[in-house]
Amino acid sequence: MDFQNCSNALVLAPMAGITDCTFRYLCMQMGCDWGVTEMISANGLVLSPKESPIQRQLMQKAPGETVGVQLFGVNLRVMEKAAQMVGDQYDFIDINMGCPSPKIVQGGAGAALGRDRGLARLVIEAVRQACTVPVTVKIRLGWDDAHLNYMDMVEMAGQAGAAAIAIHGRTRAQMYAGRADMQAIARAAAHSAIPVIANGDIASPEDALRVFETTGCQAVMIGRGAAGNPFLFRQIKQYLHTGRYDPVTPEEKLSTALTHIRLLRDLKGEAVAAKEMRKHIGWYIKGLRDAAAMREKINTAPSTDALSQMLADYMRSQYGAQPE
Ligand SMILES: Cc1cc2nc3c(=O)[nH]c(=O)nc-3n(C[C@H](O)[C@H](O)[C@H](O)COP(=O)(O)O)c2cc1C
Repeated sequence: MDFQNCSNALVLAPMAGITDCTFRYLCMQMGCDWGVTEMISANGLVLSPKESPIQRQLMQKAPGETVGVQLFGVNLRVMEKAAQMVGDQYDFIDINMGCPSPKIVQGGAGAALGRDRGLARLVIEAVRQACTVPVTVKIRLGWDDAHLNYMDMVEMAGQAGAAAIAIHGRTRAQMYAGRADMQAIARAAAHSAIPVIANGDIASPEDALRVFETTGCQAVMIGRGAAGNPFLFRQIKQYLHTGRYDPVTPEEKLSTALTHIRLLRDLKGEAVAAKEMRKHIGWYIKGLRDAAAMREKINTAPSTDALSQMLADYMRSQYGAQPE
């Protein structure tokens, strides 16, 4: 994995509960260049004697994908051991230094690690020494507006030997409110010795172009904008090459959502897939006709077969669409 020589790269952001290998696979098919697993607890990996089914699903790779494994944790020995255990199975290891969730932060990991430059450096070095693949870091701009430390963190990550750093242009205090600050990311990228990956609020090809232009970054990372919309990667690529992009047809939306249901059922089993696919289908139909009523209906679907049928009926009745 060569982070130095990428150009206009499109990266799928790690999103717990969304970007499992089934969704990553669909994104790769649409032109996403690489992805990152959902965050995985280094403690869980190292301390649990046997791999749990959930852990196995989190760690599963999609055929042919380029993917990093994202670890969260703060204990140096545990991070080192986790990196030894899993690192070489992936294209790179990413360290989570941005997660704002109280559960993670209270343990000193995620965004809490992102505010402790010294400890963060030790963690990066420990992980680097424990594996042969590149190590990347994902941060926010800082803890809050009074503690913006992203310039320091970018410098430190380069010195500690990280191969790249992804920056979500918000502080921990902002959670997901306000707009991601692309000017801040531009400043970081201009001073960084390692590639910076710009992240936050990219929901359209126009957004992606703007972020590439504003930040000067060679890679952008897309999270929520891709939910129910893996087609975004293809549209961005087309837009960057030609200045225009094709809309997604109802047929393609239907076929992709049906494939997603099937893949998720294979990965997680009927019960979990039926529950998790409700939210995905809700995203696939966002902005379509009568989507609110359809969403309510979906939430009563007792099985993945029922979900598939409901979706196919909806797309046929609203758009005359058949699966491709
Ligand atoms: C539901 C959800 C789960 C997330 N899980 C993770 C995670 O596991 N690891 C991580 O580094 N960031 C996680 N994030 C943050 C995203 O990777 C990304 O930084 C953030 O959503 C901003 O990008 P976006 O505006 O393109 O969504 C998550 C975000 C959401 C909405």
